[in-house]
Amino acid sequence: MNTTILALPGAENLAQTLASLLHCPASMLEVHRFPDGEGLVRLRTGVEGQRVLLAAHLDHPDDKTLPLLFAADAARDLGAAEIGLVAPYLPYMRQDDRFHPGEAITSRTYARVLSAAVDFIVTVDPHLHRIASLDAIYATRTGVVAAAPAIAEWLAREVPQPLLVGPDSESEQWVADVAGRMGVPYVVMTKERRGDRDVQVRMPHGASCEGRVPVLLDDIASSGHTLAMAAHVLRGAGWGRPLCIAVHALLDRNGLDLLHHAGIARVVSCDTIPHPTNAIALGPWLAEGVRGFLGD
Ligand code: R5P
Repeated sequence: MNTTILALPGAENLAQTLASLLHCPASMLEVHRFPDGEGLVRLRTGVEGQRVLLAAHLDHPDDKTLPLLFAADAARDLGAAEIGLVAPYLPYMRQDDRFHPGEAITSRTYARVLSAAVDFIVTVDPHLHRIASLDAIYATRTGVVAAAPAIAEWLAREVPQPLLVGPDSESEQWVADVAGRMGVPYVVMTKERRGDRDVQVRMPHGASCEGRVPVLLDDIASSGHTLAMAAHVLRGAGWGRPLCIAVHALLDRNGLDLLHHAGIARVVSCDTIPHPTNAIALGPWLAEGVRGFLGD
């Protein structure tokens, strides 16, 4: 079956990278905004009988999800044989429970919506915490690409003698994976979140930097408060200025400023979301993840 890639607005580079690695064509979706804010999606290429790969960066998902759903539905209507979604950042994974009475469990709702629209999804390191795997909430087939190999390769090139530091217990899965691949030590801090921008972080007893370069690693940097507070605590304990790595950088300018004021030497991220801190390219790993669904 032939494969064609359709890029949602903002995912043009992702689509081109996948097209060149998977040897298939890519085109841009046209999304027109009417004066009242409604959107109109137009496919610029025929898709009848083809496998369509929708490429999308789903940060700020509320604005991007409707065009994605319209595009998937239009592709189906125009005769696409199969529709896959390549979304390196899968949003709405953190609200995986009802933390306060009456709250929506948006992880599950979002999973139901996407599962009804596409035949498979390839993503990078979804925020799995209380939910063990994407299969628990996604009815459609899913493929998870790990950022750890790329992060470990990048660190091995760029940072001599790193000591990996996870800012909270949820980060241990990523920190332990990268540290294991590199054969370097890691520590995990404990975090208490009291609000969107109010977090407390504590060092584990007896942690020592041992002359190594501290590298804070988290899956998501959003407001930046988790990493900033972690850096603040490390600096308070006399450690050197840490490097920060985020798999998914959702930070705005204020978040970046916060990190730099907290004494962080450098912030880098994987390119799951276009961001000024992107330094670790995941294209080849994503393409490999997609190949698992091509079957031809
Ligand atoms: C949550 O547990 C995630 O792993 C991140 O630690 C969190 O999303 C970071 O958010 P913020 O940058 O707003 O502190």
